[in-house]
Amino acid sequence: LLGLAVLLLYARRTRRRNEPPLDKGMIPWLGHALEFGKDAAKFLTRMKQKHGDIFTVRAAGQYITVLLDSNCYDAVLSDVVSLDQTGYAQVLMKRIFSLNLPNHNPESEKKRAEMHFQGSALTQLCSSMQNNLQHLVTPSEMGLKVSEWKKDGLFHFCYSLLFKTGYLTVFGAEKNNSAALAEIYEEFRRFDKLLPKLARTTENKEEKQIASSAREKLWKWLTPSRLDRKPERQSWLGNYVQHLQDEGIDAETQRRAMLLQLWVTQGNSGPTAFWVLGYLLTHPEALRAVTEEIQGGKHLRPEEKQKNTPVFDSVLSETLRLTAAALITREVKQDKKICLSNGQEYQLRRGDRLCVFPFISPQMDPQIHQQPEMFQFDRFLNADGTEKKDFFKEGLRVKYPSVPWGTKDNLCPGRQFAISAIKELVFTILTRFDLELCDKNAKLPLVDPTRYGFGILQPAGDLEIRYRIRS
Ligand code: HEM
Repeated sequence: LLGLAVLLLYARRTRRRNEPPLDKGMIPWLGHALEFGKDAAKFLTRMKQKHGDIFTVRAAGQYITVLLDSNCYDAVLSDVVSLDQTGYAQVLMKRIFSLNLPNHNPESEKKRAEMHFQGSALTQLCSSMQNNLQHLVTPSEMGLKVSEWKKDGLFHFCYSLLFKTGYLTVFGAEKNNSAALAEIYEEFRRFDKLLPKLARTTENKEEKQIASSAREKLWKWLTPSRLDRKPERQSWLGNYVQHLQDEGIDAETQRRAMLLQLWVTQGNSGPTAFWVLGYLLTHPEALRAVTEEIQGGKHLRPEEKQKNTPVFDSVLSETLRLTAAALITREVKQDKKICLSNGQEYQLRRGDRLCVFPFISPQMDPQIHQQPEMFQFDRFLNADGTEKKDFFKEGLRVKYPSVPWGTKDNLCPGRQFAISAIKELVFTILTRFDLELCDKNAKLPLVDPTRYGFGILQPAGDLEIRYRIRS
């Protein structure tokens, strides 16, 4: 009876004065949930065309206000009292990682990470990352003789290499067990592939079992006391484990939390490296420009090589513009008035959710970026070769042309490390390997549309390549 009453209450919801346009969809309670989950970008683009930069949709009993006016993201999200990010984060942690961390505070976690991913700690981390990558691309590690061609999928090639590099660097694993490293990557991928389904609780019985088994194995390997080297106290991971212990978190929960951190730190860089190299291989003029830039820096010391690379930086920004698709979600804790950049005010209702989706705007906004679906390697370059920062919408300068690392108060603390690792991988491959498409007319695979909302997109298929280590 109570369920019926709640259902009726929801069905009766109407738009109040000053609230955003309300679109409940045709199906009672479920509303737009199916379309939203199937392809969030397509659905939200359709809603934006229908309603504009702000609207409220119903999905699985929840009312979600979607805000797509990028010039006001920072101002709206800075109100951490009215807009809470912990509640929904807890739900996802439980669904995806089977993890209960009642005191988890994303803001303080980000502060902790920020301390460890900057300054001299960052320099040390980057140098360790470079050593680990150089080790992983030796002929013996790759199981390849010099000049011998090997075929692979580009996504698998990039993701496995960068995952292993990152795991060795951040989790301090020993280099000498490549079979174990390969096994950890394969289990991680089994789990990572199912992540959107786990988040939406749409996995079937068989998928549930695959995810559980992958998680079990990863938990076992990631148990802090079982790692090859116990995380050093002064490292980010060591500090995190210490924090969990200080909070009285039991050993089982600790190892589950390690998988969360494995995904946060290793789940996005590999896919980004894939898109960067995929775009380069399918856009010869971009590949030529990047190769020339790398050649120009050949004489520099290793630590200098990454510094002045405006062409590569533009390629990376353009790649992230096209593939960074995190959905930023908050719970509205109290009624709140928000102001769009055109001065119009709207009321958010307590109990609803607020979502910001920078992928649609600014990143794919045709008023900001001409032909937004096209890869243009020099989109973020001025005519004089410097970084282009000025982009406009309806005559007004936009604050950010792209938001891959999150909004102002929620920036990814690992972004410099991520950029450095992606750069190192791409430069290493372009200088130490011959890398070609198996079919020189091949196109990039389409995006897997279920991944909108979960960070960097992943392809629905792969791009066949052949590569060899140069003599
Ligand atoms: C959080 C993007 C790689 C560490 C975030 C957030 C974004 C993001 C958008 C904010 C999420 C939110 O608050 O809603 C990316 C992208 C990456 C990347 C696009 C690669 C291309 C990395 C790497 C590390 C890292 C390599 C560390 C080695 C973190 C941490 C958080 C975070 C610790 C905070 C998570 C929390 O709330 O506890 N990242 N990231 N990220 N990122 Fe990254």
